[in-house]
Amino acid sequence: MKIGFIGLGHMGAGMAARLLKAGHEVSVYNRTRTKADKFIAQGAKAIASASDACRSDAVITMLANDDAVESIVFGKDGIIDSLPVGATHISSSTISVALSGRLAAAHAKAGQRFIAAPVFGRPDVAAEGKLFVVAGGRGTRSRPRHRSSPRSGRKLSSSQIGRRQPIS
Ligand SMILES: NC(=O)c1ccc[n+]([C@@H]2O[C@H](COP(=O)([O-])OP(=O)(O)OC[C@H]3O[C@@H](n4cnc5c(N)ncnc54)[C@H](OP(=O)(O)O)[C@@H]3O)[C@@H](O)[C@H]2O)c1
Repeated sequence: MKIGFIGLGHMGAGMAARLLKAGHEVSVYNRTRTKADKFIAQGAKAIASASDACRSDAVITMLANDDAVESIVFGKDGIIDSLPVGATHISSSTISVALSGRLAAAHAKAGQRFIAAPVFGRPDVAAEGKLFVVAGGRGTRSRPRHRSSPRSGRKLSSSQIGRRQPIS
């Protein structure tokens, strides 16, 4: 799979390395360019911008916070303007619910797919490929997996687990 990876900090570094090891065609972008060098030495494609990372089936962002994600997604030559119709943005940063909602709406308007996929685990866990990922988004083809709410015992869909909203 062709994957663009943006944000090679403590968490992103481990995640990008795992994707490379798994054999994906990964292009890497980081604001501080030198952090991309070791991934390029491991076989990642060198690119010059976040926009270039969008020439992929999916682009993953692992950035510090709301401000960083906003600038990379909505800024000049950002993901919204660069990602092809039908391609997917997977956002793994820990961001506000409000920004996640804005991202979902903007990607839908642009004909792109958006998956909110925040992670649990420390950088060493990321490097081992053992992060716990809570993924949710519209338009996924997989059947929802249901789990029980720890509080009420009622079922939660996979897209609702992160929001803890009980259904039926
Ligand atoms: N560390 C943890 O244990 C942990 C655990 C679970 C979840 N998280 C979440 O995972 C995310 C990443 O955490 P981290 O520990 O990897 O952080 P980090 O090491 O500080 O890395 C942050 C990344 O964001 C980039 N960045 C920051 N501001 C930017 C901006 N304005 N424009 C473009 N890029 C920008 C940084 O680029 P530069 O290299 O240029 O600074 C770097 O690639 C955060 O949302 C965090 O809450 C972290």
